[in-house]
Amino acid sequence: MAQSRVHGDASLPAGSGRAPSTAHFGTRPLTPPLFNARGVVKHYRLGAVPVPALRGVDLEVGAGEAVALVGPSGSGKTTLLNLLGGLDSPDAGEVLFAGRELGALGEGERTLIRRRQLGFVFQTFNLVPVLSARENVEYPLWIAGVGGAERRRRGDEALAAVGLSERGAHRPDQLSGGERQRVAIARALVHRPLAVLADEPTGNLDSTNGQLVLDLLLRWNAESGAALLIATHDLAVIARLPRAVRMRDGLVVSDVRGAAEPGGAP
Ligand SMILES: Nc1ncnc2c1ncn2[C@@H]1O[C@H](COP(=O)(O)OP(=O)(O)O)[C@@H](O)[C@H]1O
Ligand SMILES: [Mg+2]
Repeated sequence: MAQSRVHGDASLPAGSGRAPSTAHFGTRPLTPPLFNARGVVKHYRLGAVPVPALRGVDLEVGAGEAVALVGPSGSGKTTLLNLLGGLDSPDAGEVLFAGRELGALGEGERTLIRRRQLGFVFQTFNLVPVLSARENVEYPLWIAGVGGAERRRRGDEALAAVGLSERGAHRPDQLSGGERQRVAIARALVHRPLAVLADEPTGNLDSTNGQLVLDLLLRWNAESGAALLIATHDLAVIARLPRAVRMRDGLVVSDVRGAAEPGGAP
């Protein structure tokens, strides 16, 4: 198969008359997908009993794509996001990020990828309660060693991008749920990651705030060209993402593109 990836193949148009067995490789771009899960299996252990969470998942997500990861509770969405983000490792199969197999890297390198290239958004916001909104947003920059003046400038920019310039001094308990999630989004974007992984980001919000949060994530996806993966069972979210990957019982059961225009109206 290696010979099908020789120089020049990347420019072949789709359906260029190659035999089916090589056409896939012949038309595959030379840049690897941003995320690539291959045959991923994951069990959790509850006492002596292994609970299957993923039973052989293949998924490719390209740079800049916006994808909904959809499925009932317990279908494996959170587990898959954790594996794609290098927060956990599979029992079998492999997960590649920008062509690098996460399992082959040391924990230190995986940590650097998470800090520098990825942003995370959670259903329960996960802000640090004793820090102000501004300090929460600046936290990833602080960890990355970005100096004070630059940190404040970029923190301001990120707070402004989510419409919270006036709320920088507030602690999380002085903010509404929608505002907390907007702070969490600013924190996820402030270091300009290649992708944001969001796990049920609208799950604790009313529909108005849910739409606002989704607006911000989609606008950022369109403007920055970074990828967006949202695990959700919120129909209003699914309808606005251009690709929906459906999971059931630890498997991907469908993968539909073109269901919505990027950033399209609800
Ligand atoms: N920490 C854990 N310990 C044991 N089982 C778990 C754990 N986390 C998830 N599971 C199980 O793994 C399966 C997939 O869970 P999860 O990835 O959280 O699904 P989803 O996010 O789609 O609700 C479920 O059966 C769930 O009960
Ligand atoms: Mg979940």
